[in-house]
Amino acid sequence: MDEPYKAGPDVYVLPTHVTAPGLGNLIINAYVLLAEQPVLIDSGIGTDSAEFVAALESIVPLRDLKWVWLTHDDADHTGSIQKIIESALQARLATPVFAAMRMATWWPVPFDRVFALALDTKLDVGDRKLRALRPPTFDNPTSTGIFDEKTGTLFSVDAFGAILPEVTDNAADIPEADLRQGMVMWGASDSPWCHLVDVDRFEAVLEGVRRLAPSRILSSHLPAAGSSIDQFLAIVRSLRDCEPFVPPDQAQFQQMLAMMAPPPAAASAP
Ligand SMILES: [Fe+2]
Ligand SMILES: [Fe+2]
Repeated sequence: MDEPYKAGPDVYVLPTHVTAPGLGNLIINAYVLLAEQPVLIDSGIGTDSAEFVAALESIVPLRDLKWVWLTHDDADHTGSIQKIIESALQARLATPVFAAMRMATWWPVPFDRVFALALDTKLDVGDRKLRALRPPTFDNPTSTGIFDEKTGTLFSVDAFGAILPEVTDNAADIPEADLRQGMVMWGASDSPWCHLVDVDRFEAVLEGVRRLAPSRILSSHLPAAGSSIDQFLAIVRSLRDCEPFVPPDQAQFQQMLAMMAPPPAAASAP
């Protein structure tokens, strides 16, 4: 896990990253929203679980956590979900019904604590309402983003992610060419349907996001970003014209594994 950081006065980022050899780094963020009723947004990756829970507890004690908003049930978002729900006994699990039901195939989801998120549901967390929305690109049918109506923050789930040469905590530090290339690489592989969509319908979706005029964009797979929505939407729009993504085959996978292998030990002196 990487060092947690603040993305604003009311939001902490709990980041980690994985490296795809020869391609770059994929950041994986969960968030703590310090609303009157504190909200954890997603739960990291399973291999970081002990560190993740300790980092969360350093920001909000588990007994004080009121909500866990699970954007979707992909493994890079559910790493500590069971541990947290079973420890944070006051917290309710805000997630789409089908995300809860799909997760119940691998852990005993307490359905009586689930708050069912449908699109446009507004979750009242005391000092603000969080609106559920579908992100413009996604890799899972349950994907549900958040628009914080108090601060204008958009939590965009997998949308606006990027595969990046360097790990940073501020999207503004990323050179424009790296951001564009990394966002296209991620978008084309994570939403490999973009080239299939009707141009006018896709444009209407992007226009809906633009009209939100978010003050901050907090993707699950990008360092914290400010109000870069026009730049980000232009890149996502370009996904329609990308070559369809082709996943690595066995030979390419072998090359990736070779890049991951530790260097051979130096020969010992005679
Ligand atoms: Fe996903
Ligand atoms: Fe993801």
